[in-house]
Amino acid sequence: MPENFNINFDPAALEAIGRFQSLAYILAALLFILALAGLSKQKSARSGNKMGIAGMVVALIATFIVALTQTEAGALLAIVFMVASILVGGISGIIKAVRVKMTGMPELVAMLHSFVGAAAVLVGINSFFATPGADTAENAFHMGEVGLAVFIGAVTFTGSIVAYLKLSAKMSGKPLTIPGRNFFNALMIIAIIVIIGWFINTRGVDDGLLPLVIITAISLVLGAHLVLAIGGGDMPVVVSMLNSYSGWAAAMAGFTLGNDLLIITGSLVGSSGAFLSYIMCQGMNRSFISVILGGFGGDAPKSGSGEAKDYGDYTETSAEEVATMLKEAKRVVVSPGYGMAVAQAQFPVADLTRKLQDTGVEVQFGIHPVAGRMPGHMNVLLAEAKVPYESVFEMDEINDEFGDVDVALVIGANDTVNPAAETEPDSPIAGMPVMRVWDAERVVVFKRGMGNAGYAGVQNPLFFNDNTDMLLGDAKDSVEAIIAAL
Ligand code: TAP
Repeated sequence: MPENFNINFDPAALEAIGRFQSLAYILAALLFILALAGLSKQKSARSGNKMGIAGMVVALIATFIVALTQTEAGALLAIVFMVASILVGGISGIIKAVRVKMTGMPELVAMLHSFVGAAAVLVGINSFFATPGADTAENAFHMGEVGLAVFIGAVTFTGSIVAYLKLSAKMSGKPLTIPGRNFFNALMIIAIIVIIGWFINTRGVDDGLLPLVIITAISLVLGAHLVLAIGGGDMPVVVSMLNSYSGWAAAMAGFTLGNDLLIITGSLVGSSGAFLSYIMCQGMNRSFISVILGGFGGDAPKSGSGEAKDYGDYTETSAEEVATMLKEAKRVVVSPGYGMAVAQAQFPVADLTRKLQDTGVEVQFGIHPVAGRMPGHMNVLLAEAKVPYESVFEMDEINDEFGDVDVALVIGANDTVNPAAETEPDSPIAGMPVMRVWDAERVVVFKRGMGNAGYAGVQNPLFFNDNTDMLLGDAKDSVEAIIAAL
């Protein structure tokens, strides 16, 4: 390979490329903002996704062209490296995206965050070798950025790997609660801050390498320990928190590289991830701090405090009876939950909805903010099954209307429709906002058996109400049987 193969850009061309880069970065940043805006609503989620893809394509093309003007190793080598990276990354991304099941999405996201963390660490270390400590104020800033990028990146890296291992059940979901763990974490954070101070004051590679290695090592341990202390139950919140960290890590990498687009994108990811974690905590009635400090949300106790209580007898029903009930109903509201995802019942549920709507029954969906196992889980499934967006409502939009509903169909939901959250102050889910399905005239609950509790591991008194009928069996089979009976 001709090592010194370089494209000779004259100053005018370089200036034009510089302007093109600025414009392209502004365009990409706008597209990313539009992507986030689109993704916030189910109706516009697809177009939001396309905006994000377009933004990334613009960013890649701009980076590609600009990199050719900056390379010292030779343009050909730069092209080979960049094309190879894009191909390897793109192809493995496509393979993973095609293969992943909806239920495996949180662990895939966790794994992807670990890549962002690792990238921030590598960019930081590389940036240190390119520009080590020197006697200027500007350099002091640069060294601070490197220290922070490595710190946040390393925490995100090991934290995300542990989250991935817990979510994929390759490691126990139990929280590792060593005594004094919060003190230990605080000590590590203080040590990192002090060593970043030392790092900023070093001069040259030889001087700065030791503090950089120590910062990296402590941050790696901190990331793993933070997430090890959090129970599998809180892992989805942790994933969204790590999403936020990965954004800040990318923003820090943007500072070290002097790349404005990376700073903007990283900040968007960082703040939206933090906001999402907050919304999830609200939906589960958990405090954000208690999730971050860890130790909660261990393997769900299969017999929670409510389990021992005797709520009386339940009434079992059949698909035929439910079909008759639905035929006579004017308004039906479906409240789906994790079980619908497990059974992949969204397609027959969409069929049933169409059939009932064709006969003049009003069918709506009420979605709890944490139904399922990840944010927007139910919305994604319903969109996949082509349920019209107009029929899908958030909990707050429909919760006060159950009094006017003839039949509430609870398909694979449990904790999110548990009245104990409102009536039993000692319940582990006390205070969690829930769908008030019990206000409907009749409630039909789809689940496989009476022995299994929901995610929080507590018994659900709803199942024993006079106006509740239990339709036991796999949700997909049950819905198909109702369609057949209709
Ligand atoms: P869960 O409380 O998890 O209950 C799931 C229900 O589905 C159970 O009643 C289960 O009973 C039933 N089920 C499972 N497989 C089924 C199948 N094949 N056919 C029919 N039914 C089936 O669900 P939920 O109401 O959606 O609540 C979600 C829970 O996850 C909440 O506690 C929430 O805090 C937690 N969580 C959510 C998130 C996010 S962001 N969504 C994040 C972390 C935690 P059987 O086993 O008897 O069938």
